[in-house]
Amino acid sequence: MLLIKNIGILQTPVGTRSLCGKDQAKNLKLYNAAVAVEGGVIRKIYRDGELSDICGLDCKVIDADGGLVTPGLIDCHTHLTFGGWRQGEIRLKLNGATYLDILKSGGGILDTVQNTRKMSEDELYERSKGFVEEMLGLGVTTIESKSGYGLNFDDEIKQLKVNKRLNETTKADVVSTFLGAHAVPTEYDGRADEYIDYICEVVLPEIKKQKLADFCDVFCEDGVFNVEQSKKLLLCAQKLGLKSKIHADEIESIGGAALAGEIKAVSAEHLIATDENGIDCLRRGGVTAALLPSTSFYLNKNYAKARTMIDCGVPVAIASDFNPGSCPSLNLQLAINLGYIKYRMFPEEILTAVTLNAACAIDRGESVGSVEVGKKADLVVWNAPDFETVCYRFGTNQVKTVIKNGEVV
Ligand code: NIG
Ligand code: FE
Repeated sequence: MLLIKNIGILQTPVGTRSLCGKDQAKNLKLYNAAVAVEGGVIRKIYRDGELSDICGLDCKVIDADGGLVTPGLIDCHTHLTFGGWRQGEIRLKLNGATYLDILKSGGGILDTVQNTRKMSEDELYERSKGFVEEMLGLGVTTIESKSGYGLNFDDEIKQLKVNKRLNETTKADVVSTFLGAHAVPTEYDGRADEYIDYICEVVLPEIKKQKLADFCDVFCEDGVFNVEQSKKLLLCAQKLGLKSKIHADEIESIGGAALAGEIKAVSAEHLIATDENGIDCLRRGGVTAALLPSTSFYLNKNYAKARTMIDCGVPVAIASDFNPGSCPSLNLQLAINLGYIKYRMFPEEILTAVTLNAACAIDRGESVGSVEVGKKADLVVWNAPDFETVCYRFGTNQVKTVIKNGEVV
């Protein structure tokens, strides 16, 4: 058994479903608490004074030293298996190019595709494993990882196999998403419709056969894949059992949020340019909004209307969007800081956004995302007295101890 004791504040959202509206700010706060863990699962939560001598000889004790304990953080949107970096793009932007200009001229995502295709599965695995370990050290215990830098049969499958290996061999849970429609590959230049058909007819059936992904995602954006192409792909994936996610309204609002609501996507991501109508579609469709403030920062763009979304009853999650182009940071604590200052969300809302709502954005609300008896023992002991402090301090790792499946990472 593992006992985490002397917890100053145990703070967590509660439940297995995403929280919206005023409920997003509801966190359970237990003072002077302790948590008992057995078999990787939370067995009992003790309140002040309840804890008598329950520890046997084989019991390991972690002293939280009066600090804060929360659920392990969940990063529900990353692109972490990629080759190379793209540091040269900033200089192009300083000279006036936009993100989409760079993509259209064969750079951007397509540049990373070339570098990812060059890597063997083992090389890609080793590099991505390093990122997962770094994320664990920053308090992230569950990670969604998208493909989308292969853009052909072999290299997309290679990325998804890396996701599977990361899930099996690292301490983190890694949830795999197929993003074959991340850009139109140069081989299909000007033939986006044919590329979507190829994915539907050839690539998706193989992914299903090998059980390589839980979700299918698409970059629904002006000049990339339009709403009609995105819908065709996601419905085809749904038929094969892959749940839907959409990169929607990152740069232009072309109807991605409305599509997410219409096809009941589990989550819609980015939503920087989403208008009130789009927000209403998300609410009616029960879609979780996965917002990525570090990307707004790095693209020097507007921030998604998180406050309006929460006030309108859309459940909001926050993720890093770690990737080599629009967000070369895997630090979810930075996204927490930006959520506080730029989205004007309250600390309790932010905690829900990076735990339970993030879990629901990857359909894992039953097993992770809150500190409750029966859920996985994924916990962070912070070097901070409360979550307000975690939101307030930035640029430093505030995590003291990370526990995943009941084991210290
Ligand atoms: O979420 N927008 C599409 N995909 C990523 C960026 C990928 C890249 O630039 O390499 C995103 O921002
Ligand atoms: Fe992304």
